[in-house]
Amino acid sequence: MHIPRYFIDELMAKVDIVELINSYIPLRKMGKNYVACCPFHTEKTPSFTVSSEKQFYHCFGCGASGSAIGFMLNYARFEFVEAIQEIASRVGMEVVYEQNDTSPIDNSIVDLYQIMQQVATYYRQQLRESQIAINYLKQRGLTGQITRYFGLGYAPNGWDNVLKIFGTDAETRNNLLKTGLVTQNDAGQRYDRFRNRIIFPILDRRGRIIAFGGRVIDQSKPKYLNSPETTLFRKGGELYGWYFARKQGVLKTVIVVEGYMDVVALAQYGIYYAVATLGTATTAKHLTFLFRNVSEIIFCFDGDAAGQKAAWRALEISLPLLQGSRQIRFIFLPQEHDPDGLIRLEGTQAFNKRIAQATPLSKFLFDTLQQQVDMNSIDGKAKLVELAKPLINQLPTGAYQDLMLQELSKLTGLNNLFVAKPQLKQSMDTSFRELSLIEQAIVYLLHYPELVKLIKYPEKLSFLNQDYIKLLLELIEFIQFHPQLRLGAICEHWRGTEYESTINLLAKKKALSFENITGIIEDEFTSILNRLYQSYQKSIDFLAQINSKLAQITQENI
Ligand code: CTP
Ligand code: MN
Repeated sequence: MHIPRYFIDELMAKVDIVELINSYIPLRKMGKNYVACCPFHTEKTPSFTVSSEKQFYHCFGCGASGSAIGFMLNYARFEFVEAIQEIASRVGMEVVYEQNDTSPIDNSIVDLYQIMQQVATYYRQQLRESQIAINYLKQRGLTGQITRYFGLGYAPNGWDNVLKIFGTDAETRNNLLKTGLVTQNDAGQRYDRFRNRIIFPILDRRGRIIAFGGRVIDQSKPKYLNSPETTLFRKGGELYGWYFARKQGVLKTVIVVEGYMDVVALAQYGIYYAVATLGTATTAKHLTFLFRNVSEIIFCFDGDAAGQKAAWRALEISLPLLQGSRQIRFIFLPQEHDPDGLIRLEGTQAFNKRIAQATPLSKFLFDTLQQQVDMNSIDGKAKLVELAKPLINQLPTGAYQDLMLQELSKLTGLNNLFVAKPQLKQSMDTSFRELSLIEQAIVYLLHYPELVKLIKYPEKLSFLNQDYIKLLLELIEFIQFHPQLRLGAICEHWRGTEYESTINLLAKKKALSFENITGIIEDEFTSILNRLYQSYQKSIDFLAQINSKLAQITQENI
């Protein structure tokens, strides 16, 4: 399923970026633009600027920039399709989906969310009516308040409670199967997946129920049963508790724990920023998502061997992601303890102390490796270098990597450990004047689309054989067809194409930084066009020359 480009173009023509951003960060009018302190970096005086005219935001401090969609992706942290859906619902448009070859249109997805919601309500109500289930939760120390906060429920015993109550027509019965609430045996018999279990609704980042986890209240097996992978629920990426944690405000830190109960118990004791990986190992997908939202991740594992192993695995996955101010720390709990049990035992204050004293990744890395070698021998130190270097090499180039290398030097007494990695110079710093004529023309058109009417001979440009000529021609055509679209919307049109990064880089040049003093822009643009036409003329002349030369040679040869 995908959203056609024409729809996005239409949407971009409708949305007002000022209104949209203002709903997240209050904007103040200043001259023609709106300003605020930049949400993408820390600052005291506002350099984050939103232009209504261009439908574009730009921060002069950190260089962040983009369209309304870009803001939803970068600030509100929506996935692309979600961002489109959110904006569409705000401007009252119905999202158009197009079928692509692999997945058929699934209009029933809304129905699936609805069923999940309804069944969750049913489970909650069943919990209120089951003394056994209530007793179980009480015995585990849960308060009614925290139970309600996480929307816990109870799936009563029996094979067809949900099936009977909700499966009143064929379509719903099918949808129950699709959500995994009902399952089917080889003989085609259908029955409820969750029976006699405490139910943990799993919410996506928008708060929609996408799956359930169910825990037995007796000794039966398996202890936990989760929804299978469905249209709504993709495993390996979801984090239990994220929606609740994020609801409390913008987070700096999250704690990653193993279980549902750990998340719930920590929240009950006031540590509301824990998430669980739902029984799977931490994946790069989890971490990438978390690091888009917080700058520090603290892993909290058991003190046993399995916990150490899980921590090391998390370390390995994290290394390539540790850029800028991102930080990873580890809490190792005493053996035989999990966060749920421990915080109930020792209380919030003691647990907060563990958080404050969590081991930084660097220490965990060097400690672990040093345990594997004999640090009193030269061989051991050499071995340490061997072990540490491939790991340190995985860190992004930067201060953190340098410091880790320094630490390794200190431990081993070896200098010359520095790995010289070529660093790509960001072409963002190049000034406008250093751009090619074609690039300059693109910048002008992006910021002043109305200039397109000055292009009298686009066909002449099409002869030019230079970088980005194809992009310029596409841009001209696009603007001609969509005269109402501004910078933000225009950039959006190239998202996901080979020109996406070029367009975005060019959009930042002079972005919002100079005003059109009547006529100047037109003059400058005309001059660029003339120079382009000239090079066209030159190549024509050159061709003519060659032609006549050729004619001459041919003549002479006859
Ligand atoms: N898990 C699972 N399936 C299982 C066992 C565990 O999906 N059969 C997942 C659950 O998300 C569980 C987490 O792994 O919360 C951690 O498992 P475990 O430590 O065994 O459970 P606890 O969270 O400690 O659960 P409890 O305290 O209720 O025993
Ligand atoms: Mn437990």
